Amino acid sequence: MTYEERLENVAVLGAAGKMGSGILLLTAVHMADLQLQNKDKTYVLYAIDVSNKALTGLMDYLRVQVRKIAEKKINWLRAVYEDREDLVENGEMIDEYIFDVMKIVRPVDVMEAAYKANLVFEAVNENKDLKVKLFKQIKEHNDKVWFFTNTSSVPIHYLEENAGVKGRIIGFHFYNPPAVQKLVELIKTENTDPELEKFALEYAKNLKKIIVPSNDFAGFIGNGHFMRDALFGINEALALAKEKGISLPQAIYMINKVTQDYLVRPMGIFQLMDYVGIDVMQFIMNVMNPYLEDEDLHSDLLDTMMEQGVKGGQYSSGAQKDGFLKYEKGKITAVYDPDKKEYVPVSEFAEEADKMLGELPESAVSWKSTLKMKNKDEVLSKFFNDIKNSDTLGAKLAVKYAKNSKAIGEKLVSDGVANNADDVNTVMLTGFFHAYGPINNYFD
Ligand SMILES: NC(=O)c1ccc[n+]([C@@H]2O[C@H](COP(=O)([O-])OP(=O)(O)OC[C@H]3O[C@@H](n4cnc5c(N)ncnc54)[C@H](O)[C@@H]3O)[C@@H](O)[C@H]2O)c1
Repeated sequence: MTYEERLENVAVLGAAGKMGSGILLLTAVHMADLQLQNKDKTYVLYAIDVSNKALTGLMDYLRVQVRKIAEKKINWLRAVYEDREDLVENGEMIDEYIFDVMKIVRPVDVMEAAYKANLVFEAVNENKDLKVKLFKQIKEHNDKVWFFTNTSSVPIHYLEENAGVKGRIIGFHFYNPPAVQKLVELIKTENTDPELEKFALEYAKNLKKIIVPSNDFAGFIGNGHFMRDALFGINEALALAKEKGISLPQAIYMINKVTQDYLVRPMGIFQLMDYVGIDVMQFIMNVMNPYLEDEDLHSDLLDTMMEQGVKGGQYSSGAQKDGFLKYEKGKITAVYDPDKKEYVPVSEFAEEADKMLGELPESAVSWKSTLKMKNKDEVLSKFFNDIKNSDTLGAKLAVKYAKNSKAIGEKLVSDGVANNADDVNTVMLTGFFHAYGPINNYFD
């Protein structure tokens, strides 16, 4: 089966979810482009989800997003619709393109639609039993289908063995949101058909994604680093509160500030946990933990937050829900105190906390300002060197944090999760938008 033939009949499972909807959009557009160039073929993309309500919303979302994509490639549309005399204005071509993409997509709430697919993208909830059950069900009716799973943490060989789909599955781990994020982690098992891998690489290239191969260990590279980095942040805050006799909210505020301002990251580690969702964090750690022999990836604090119903995550509008931190118009206004079961306003401790951390060196740079810097490495070297030579509490916490982040990255390489330091750095640079990779010499 050629690349194009493989893409003639595709299904996305969990299509109405956060990841599924993005994967559907990217694949629908790619398939429509193939359709426009292969008019004698029929391309079909099944959008499968258990929630009919969500599927209706999905079609509205698709229409809006395809319009934006069409507007950006109007010159290409002009060439493709060249022989269509009825299409003159840009607006007419954009509407036609939306129609051409939408007619490929079939929203359905039954799994049977996937029985004839050549390719299945799986993005249902992070539940290994559910994933195995669906793969098994499809496999029983289809012995040629290839599975692309978007699992964040389940080893691919576990899914392969338990679903009995030897050689026909690959981890194709998009980052959120799939339509925007460039990074995809590609995870083969020892059985993965080389043709399937070749197809995956070509598909990624056509979607203009950056592929980083990860070996098949729970959590892969991205969550392998992030979960441990976050757990370190939690433990640092707990230790700081105890050591300095300050409240936990104040310590959380301080570690969040250190990880953002001193380490030049897009957001502090507690804000990032809120962004991802405390429930998702806990869930991923629980999935990864049984596969780890020499460490316990678990936090009582995350359990407590969950028990108290404080979960973070996003509203469907994209706005941030309160988690460790409380947000008002995007600003952090309070920090959760699990003992009091309420938020404590930042104004109650910020002054004391900032004083304890000390002044940032004058060479400090914001993460945003590094985005377009040509001499980023030089600027960061200067700032981090000043931090290394500073004896403020903030600087000391930052150096400790950065060294731990490097150690996590190096362990991913020595454990064989990542093939090399560059792959770890690329994942953190592209998937997490860090300004520099964790495996660096800035803090040595
Ligand atoms: N959200 C992220 O940041 C992120 C990033 C990378 C990977 N992932 C992974 O992607 C997958 C999906 O995550 P998500 O955040 O999009 O979840 P989600 O909850 O937003 O979406 C899951 C979708 O699956 C549907 N579903 C549930 N059972 C189903 C079934 N039996 N058949 C068909 N559809 C079913 C749900 O209705 C829902 O629409 C998970 O494996 C997750 O680990 C998530």
